[in-house]
Order: sequence, then C-alpha cells, then structure tokens
Amino acid sequence: MAVNVEGSKGNYAHAGNLKSRVSLYDYREPQFDPVDVAADLMPADPRLVLDVGCGHGRYLKRLRADHPAAAVVGIDAAPGMLSEVEPPIMVADARAIPYPDGSVDAVLAMHMLYHVPDIAKAVGEFRRVLKPGGTLLVSTNTHDDMAEPYAHWARAIRAVLGPDTYIPSAEVANFDSANAPDYLEAAFGSVERFEKRGLVSVPEPRPLMDYLVSIRSYVDCDDAAFDRILAVAAAELESHFAAHDVFEFEKAIVFYRCR
Ligand SMILES: C[S@@+](CC[C@H](N)C(=O)[O-])C[C@H]1O[C@@H](n2cnc3c(N)ncnc32)[C@H](O)[C@@H]1O
Repeated sequence: MAVNVEGSKGNYAHAGNLKSRVSLYDYREPQFDPVDVAADLMPADPRLVLDVGCGHGRYLKRLRADHPAAAVVGIDAAPGMLSEVEPPIMVADARAIPYPDGSVDAVLAMHMLYHVPDIAKAVGEFRRVLKPGGTLLVSTNTHDDMAEPYAHWARAIRAVLGPDTYIPSAEVANFDSANAPDYLEAAFGSVERFEKRGLVSVPEPRPLMDYLVSIRSYVDCDDAAFDRILAVAAAELESHFAAHDVFEFEKAIVFYRCR
C-alpha cells in the first residue's frame, strides 16, 4: 500500500527511522523514559484510550499493562508503522478520528502533531471524541531542543545543497513548546505543562550519522548528493572528536495534560 503521511515526507514508511532516532537518547543523563511520564499523567481507570500517531507502539505496551480493563487502541496514518504493533490498531488520520463524539476517556498524541498539516483541526478532533472531563496527553520538543546536532546537520546539508535549503528541524517548529499552548488552550480549559530535560553525551560519530540517515526523506536531493552530505557531516564529526571526548547537547521534551 502506498504511504502518504502528509508533512512527514515518507519518513514513516516503516519503523526503522524512528527507532534509530529514539536510540540516540540512550546516551541521555539523567535517563528518563517519556513513556513513564505519560503513564503517570494518565487518568485512573479509563475504559477507552486512543494513542493517535502511535508509531511503533512504545506507549501502547505500557498503557495496556497499566490498564488491563481498558481498550487501548493504536492509531496511525502510516500502515508501515503499525506492522509490528499488537491489535487493536487502526489506520486513520488525526484530523478524522473514526470514533463518536464524547466516547473516549483519554487521547495520546505523542510527538506527532508537528506532522499534521492542520494542527487545530486535529486538536479539535481530540476534543470532539473525548468525554467531558476526558484527558488529552500531548508531547513535543522544546523550542531549543537539540540545537547543536541540528546546526551540525544543517551545515552539512547547506554546504552541499545551498544556503537556503530546507532543514529537517523546520517541521518540528510547527508544533513545539513555543506555540503548542496556543493550539491546546484554544480547545481545552485546563492545560498543564511538564518538562523533562537531559544532557546527551554521544561518545562516537556513528549514532549521530545514523540519525542523519534516518531523516534522509526530509532532504530533497538525489542519493549522490546525500552521500556528499554524509561525507561533509562525517568530516566535521571527525574534527570534533579529534578535540573532544563527546558530542554534547540538551534533549528536552515537554508534555501537556489537557482537560
Ligand atoms: C515521531 S513519530 C511518534 C510516534 C509515537 N507517538 C512515539 O512517540 O513513539 C510520529 C508518528 O505520527 C504519525 N502521523 C503523522 N501524521 C499523522 C496524522 N495526520 N494522523 C495520524 N498519525 C500521523 C507518523 O506516521 C508517525 O508514526
């Protein structure tokens, strides 16, 4: 089946790219798992939970274990992301959720709203399907998230493709800590914010190169040009590691609980 998740440029044809990016945070101190944060913010005893943009299902596993009496449904617009996810699952778009008004106890939208072309419409859908008093949990990146690696990748991309080339972090800015509250407060009376921050110290070039490869689909060029981008990035990292033991940056995530 053709995959067309608008806004994410085919990055979610399969789960490998996302898994590669998440593994970079194994080097984060203090260690924290965003799944634990979301689990702690869930309402008690939900009966129906939708994880919209569930990806490869890392939140689903935990929520199903924590709430065995609940139906916890994984929803994603990209069928390939769901290939290894246990049912109940559904291919659907956040802007048109196939559930009746006021039928759901909790909706999760974790690190996905920046991909949705009409964010206000998706947030409106979350409000529509939630029961009165139901809970929406949202996560995204802070505005200053991962500044150093994104600057490094942007230098490599622009060295090959020119100074005005689109860089992958631009899409995340569609919905980050700077503008998320505006979208959420427009639809929910109560919006609480929780932030988690850690220092990522990467001891070798490989995980940073793997991350750059994982965002290949966002870079509009042929494979030969992308190979040149990789070569520029690798050379810069070689110089960096000749002078430093680690490549350091802050990884910060913000969670919103909306009711
Ligand atoms: C960064 S991944 C996050 C996955 C998961 N929530 C997590 O945090 O591990 C974004 C996910 O949102 C999905 N997605 C993008 N646009 C969507 C849309 N309009 N409706 C539903 N899912 C969408 C993608 O296919 C992808 O699986």
